[in-house]
Amino acid sequence: MTTVGAAVPHESARDHVTGAALYTEDLAGRFPGLLHAWPITAPHAHARVLSIDAGPSRTVPGVVDVLVGSDVPGEGDSGANRHDEPLFPTEVLFHGQAVAWVLAESRDAARAGAERAVVGYEPLPALLTIDEAIAAGSYLNDPLRLARGDLTAIERSALRFDGELRIGGQEHFYLETQVSIAWRDETGGCAVVSSTQHPSETQDIVARALALPDNQVTVECIRMGGAFGGKEVQANGLAAIAAVGAWKTGRPVMVRLTRALDMMLTGKRHPYLARYEAGFSSDGRIEALRLEFYSDGGWSLDLSEPIMWRTLFHCENAYFVPAIEVTGRVCRTHKTSQTAFRGFGGPQGMIVVEEVMAQAAQRLNIPPEIVRRRNLYAQGQHTPYGQAVDEADRMSTIWDRLLTTSDFERRRAAVDAYNQANSTSKRGLAITPVKFGISFTATFFNQAGALVLVYRDGSVQVNHGGTEMGQGLFTKVAQIAADVLGVPLASVRTMSTRTDKVPNTSATAASSGTDLNGAAVADACRQIVGRLRSVAAGLFDCDPSSVTFDQGVVSGGGRTVSFASVCEQAYHQRVSLFANGFYRTPEIHFDPSTGRGKPFHYFAFGAAVSEVEIDRFTGASRVLRVDILEDVGDSIAPVVDRGQIEGGFMQGLGWLTVEELLWDDRGRLSTAGASTYKLPSWSEVPDTFNVAFLEEATERSVVFGSKAVGEPPLMLALSAREALRDAVRAFNASAIVTFDSPATPERIFFAVRRARLSLPGGAPRRAAATADAS
Ligand code: MTE
Ligand code: HPA
Ligand code: MOS
Repeated sequence: MTTVGAAVPHESARDHVTGAALYTEDLAGRFPGLLHAWPITAPHAHARVLSIDAGPSRTVPGVVDVLVGSDVPGEGDSGANRHDEPLFPTEVLFHGQAVAWVLAESRDAARAGAERAVVGYEPLPALLTIDEAIAAGSYLNDPLRLARGDLTAIERSALRFDGELRIGGQEHFYLETQVSIAWRDETGGCAVVSSTQHPSETQDIVARALALPDNQVTVECIRMGGAFGGKEVQANGLAAIAAVGAWKTGRPVMVRLTRALDMMLTGKRHPYLARYEAGFSSDGRIEALRLEFYSDGGWSLDLSEPIMWRTLFHCENAYFVPAIEVTGRVCRTHKTSQTAFRGFGGPQGMIVVEEVMAQAAQRLNIPPEIVRRRNLYAQGQHTPYGQAVDEADRMSTIWDRLLTTSDFERRRAAVDAYNQANSTSKRGLAITPVKFGISFTATFFNQAGALVLVYRDGSVQVNHGGTEMGQGLFTKVAQIAADVLGVPLASVRTMSTRTDKVPNTSATAASSGTDLNGAAVADACRQIVGRLRSVAAGLFDCDPSSVTFDQGVVSGGGRTVSFASVCEQAYHQRVSLFANGFYRTPEIHFDPSTGRGKPFHYFAFGAAVSEVEIDRFTGASRVLRVDILEDVGDSIAPVVDRGQIEGGFMQGLGWLTVEELLWDDRGRLSTAGASTYKLPSWSEVPDTFNVAFLEEATERSVVFGSKAVGEPPLMLALSAREALRDAVRAFNASAIVTFDSPATPERIFFAVRRARLSLPGGAPRRAAATADAS
């Protein structure tokens, strides 16, 4: 009997629902004397800090201390790669940036103290949009580039067109905001509990700030209430502030951002500007594509460069493009430092090629699903960076099956009939593919460690470097441990993630949490089973290879004993019952200087069909039905995977349709709360939502034949954007319909108006001026 593949619930599902699940802030009560921190925030997007007078802050009852730059014992910078993120800046680089932190007995007191501080600023001119940054030559990196083939093919193509697409950013809106608690531990080291996707890096940054070696700092993550990439690096600086506070005061310190502070201080998905130029044959085959991407990186580098690489790696999505040149550059603006967000730049690449496919279909008057199908990768073809698309046939299989299971043809006719019969409301239908590369594109991150402890009674503790953020990693890894050890799932306890259990770990990111940590845990479990096999063979007097382990029962030579008794026997024979495991993804490599390599271990494939309805007078839209077919390999936890697919799609739908970040002309985020930043909610969930897994999809060389599922489904929501385009075109079948992202009611309204009046594409001036997709 196997636990892997069974429909087990998320290991914390019950606790999530009842409220019993503990999050970092819930631990606050365990720290007598805990101090709360509140930032002194700058009211300018760009300014020099002339003076900080914290005297008035200290007069507020409950205020204990005010942290300034000179309080940092070590390096006062939390930039992980480039050291470009001063903890206590002397030059403010975005509106709301913290210039100092007030510590107090309560959060209210800390806040009141921060409001009293008198800070002198010299305001400086600020760059607030991608366009301003380009005009000023303000960049965070040199251009990245991938190219293949002869781009002059564009000139010779039967169809040639170009254009520009503005793509909005996205707020993570994890339910649990950023939080860290730091204290001086029993032996004089620094202990931190943090809502971080990357405890080892948080450890590094804290150690740097305190001028301690790494072995003096322990970072623990119990679980996160969502992260979505927003805690891949952005937890680090806040943990460092807590640690500096604890070091200075000798008391535990908690930094916990309120929603408003979190939205003001932390980075988001990068807004992008993309320019495209494409050549197609008259039958809809893409012949050449030139793309330029500019992202709004904000004030510091953060992960913007690998994010831009992933944009480049996904700019052709699932399509073979013979001649292609793509460049990407990160703009430096006076905004929050944009960061990882589910898809990690991939969505911004893929939205553009889907725009290009849609426009080609419109201009050639070929149904978009035919143009897309014609351009899907075939077996043996290579990506622009030279990686073979193994299993490309999975993509076309998914496509053809989904057209059938979604009843596409009949619904196409039904949508057309609806549109004939209705003049103010129109429906649209579209199918889009997803091909998403799995692995960290920085090859060295693709490693993981584990520490598995078996006790004499046969119970098991599993430690690994991955963090749980709701995605179900701990569920899957426990299932893997249970099956490899041959014990019931209930015997396996997954411990919270700690840097003193498994060192030097990677972020839980790039959707590879289970691939990496699951494999490392399996490695450790196999070593233990190998030893127990010999012990059992001794008990049974049989050949070790004939011993089996299943659900806590060990069998061999016609006899059975409990797993616990084999463990007890092993202990008495002085056989070790614990092991460390390790995994490194084989055969991946990439050379940024040549733009060639095999950056991904494999690709995750999927496709979605969306049907939408729009209203001509309001531009409001609704998703009526979604059908998804996703390749998850052999699913380890089908219930969890379904949740990832549904949640990922909805998060993508939010990014593409309702979530819109607006900044005012002083660089202040206007949409800094749930009242002004529209999130997808129940009302946006499609009336019909069919999710299916590709069958017979074993992924060789991944743990238990599974496949990553965390990020890829987000990009399935591009089908809804394309269905919206289809619905707009129902107002005028000869229009070339294009609109920037997100497709808010306002943008749909204007797109309909342009289509009805046969005006050329692009955003109307008013929408362009108010909506900041730059
Ligand atoms: N699902 C939930 N519920 N919460 C999250 O924060 N993060 C996503 C995805 N699914 C996230 C989630 C992101 S950005 C990634 S990279 C993966 O989960 C990380 O986990 P995995 O590698 O274990 O899939
Ligand atoms: N994906 C997600 N996170 C990352 C990556 C990546 O490719 N590289 C570094 N951090
Ligand atoms: Mo996910 S954006 O790789 O944390």
